[in-house]
Amino acid sequence: MRNYQIEDLPDYFKQYKKSIKNPKKFWDNIADKNFVWYQRWSKVVDYDMTEAKITWFKNAKLNIVKNCIDRHLAERGEKTAIIWEPNDPKEEALYISYNDLYKRVNKTANILRDLGIKKGDRVCIYLPMIPELAITMLACAKLGAIHSVIFAGFSASAVASRVNDCGAKMIITSDGSYRGSKVLDLKSIVDEALEKTESIENVLVVKRTHNEIKMKEGRDHRMADLYEKASEDFVTVIMDAEDPLFILYTSGSTGKPKGMLHTCGGYMVYTGYTFKNIFNYKENDIYWCTADIGWITGHSYILYGPLCNGATTVIFEGVPTYPQPDRFWEVIEKHKVTQFYTAPTAIRSLAKESTEWVDKHDLSSLKVIGSVGEPINDEAWHWFNDHVGKKKCPVVDTWWQTETGGIMISPIPFVTPTKPTYATLPLPGIQPVLMDDKRNEISGNQVTGNLCIRFPWPGIARTIWGDHQRYKETYFSAFPGKYFTGDGALRDEVGYYRITGRVDDVIIVSGHNLGTAPIEDSINQHPAVAESAIVGYPHDIKGNALYGYVMLKEIGEGRDRDNLKKEINQLISDQIGPIAKLDKIQFVSGLPKTRSGKIMRRILRKIAEGDFSNFGDISTLLNPEIVDEIKNERLG
Ligand code: WT7
Repeated sequence: MRNYQIEDLPDYFKQYKKSIKNPKKFWDNIADKNFVWYQRWSKVVDYDMTEAKITWFKNAKLNIVKNCIDRHLAERGEKTAIIWEPNDPKEEALYISYNDLYKRVNKTANILRDLGIKKGDRVCIYLPMIPELAITMLACAKLGAIHSVIFAGFSASAVASRVNDCGAKMIITSDGSYRGSKVLDLKSIVDEALEKTESIENVLVVKRTHNEIKMKEGRDHRMADLYEKASEDFVTVIMDAEDPLFILYTSGSTGKPKGMLHTCGGYMVYTGYTFKNIFNYKENDIYWCTADIGWITGHSYILYGPLCNGATTVIFEGVPTYPQPDRFWEVIEKHKVTQFYTAPTAIRSLAKESTEWVDKHDLSSLKVIGSVGEPINDEAWHWFNDHVGKKKCPVVDTWWQTETGGIMISPIPFVTPTKPTYATLPLPGIQPVLMDDKRNEISGNQVTGNLCIRFPWPGIARTIWGDHQRYKETYFSAFPGKYFTGDGALRDEVGYYRITGRVDDVIIVSGHNLGTAPIEDSINQHPAVAESAIVGYPHDIKGNALYGYVMLKEIGEGRDRDNLKKEINQLISDQIGPIAKLDKIQFVSGLPKTRSGKIMRRILRKIAEGDFSNFGDISTLLNPEIVDEIKNERLG
């Protein structure tokens, strides 16, 4: 990035003011100076926040891969683009240069095209954290196909519903994956998923493990066979700034997952710009984000943001505790990592271990450390700051969402003074507002409210795939004219933001967004279950854990309740994935409901937390007596 490194606090305020006063000029300048375009835009931004119609860089032509790879070849072709660190430390790390990445992406793009993939087609990618995950995404982008990465921990039905929702023509998977001491068989999950889908024409299989897999003649192809023959030359497909780049599914508070659609131009500008500033990126840095590429964090800050800046990005296949709880620290020392970006849940679980695990490694290469995915509690913040950053590295607590494409509120290292548990200040171009429940804007400081954003930014998702109405209703109708985040926030006396958590029915467990509705839907499919309600309650490591209230069709005396609990969790695991399993299940004879039939989750949440102090007014409930019953059973 040629300009727009924010220098100091006065410079931040200056940039911020400019960006609000004249957002068009601000983004025009960033887009123009730091990216390569085949054709410039005719208009920077066009928006209607009521109809949820947003366009950035209208009529501009580009390809994000040209920005992520091709343009770096002349200056830094032999520089390492990707360091791949395998699950097992005994296996060798892989260093992929920009030149090498260029060739691998071209070969892969040719393979996809030969299998009939063209611009606009959807390709699902269900791969572990291996280089091919990044390479196939880039190959899709180079060819104009829309990738939809499905986190490799999701179950066959979750895969099927995503494939069906986006109508993917191809799915790319592997013979298996290594995660800690486990070997998973991804291919058979895909085979099972494909029994419930129609659109897939070809399956591309990458070899990673020694799993024996079944190959279906005509449908399944081994990547290795095609790779040898594929040409290293590929002519980049020219994309419009508003052409889709990818779809990524995220949980909603109701119904099926939402396929958030991100487009080429705005997403590139926003991730490139934010990466540079939030990680204080400099040419020789070694940057590591521990997220899975299957989530937005990996898309924006393992792949696109870093590569757009010509950075070296680490892709780690394993888990923090394998083979021992010092794996993260060992990898930082081994590769001399300069920026380390991880999640509060990982920090909390490693903070439980003896500090000797951290102390025995040389972490002096670190410059900036970051956190993302959920509110970071005070204790975790300090542990991270003291033991990992050694009080020398600014902690960037970055708040953002799948929907926002990139980081929205975060300290800028060496610029914004940090404050534990606070995401601090918005990035230039971002205008947060706090709203009360009556839709009034809350002005002033030392206030809390519903967090909204007033003006569009280039990285915002443009729609929900196939359901624009839902996009409009979910994000633009609660507070008309504004984007509603679903989070609550507090603004302190100096204007710093602290995100207090979701105000809707999404629960964040170990940094994974889970909607209550899809989990309840799976539970309700159990033949013995009449109705259920899920709430979150605080958990030391996961942040939140899931508590399920389950009402059986018959009182169910005599039924083996432990067995029922197992069956319920198995159902959830099959339909969504093991991450959505319930930590506690309480069988109840009814659920507290309002007269309009809405479950009073507020009360259920308090009971789950073990807080029986004040349930508020329950007299308007349809069945107020049930509250005492549930409470007593919880105690009993
Ligand atoms: C939700 C979005 C953004 C990438 C990972 C999650 C919560 C995220 C923070 C933070 C407090 C945070 C919010 C948000 N969240 N970062 N630094 N402090 N809360 O993406 O799965 O779309 O989840 O994660 O509740 O709405 P996502």
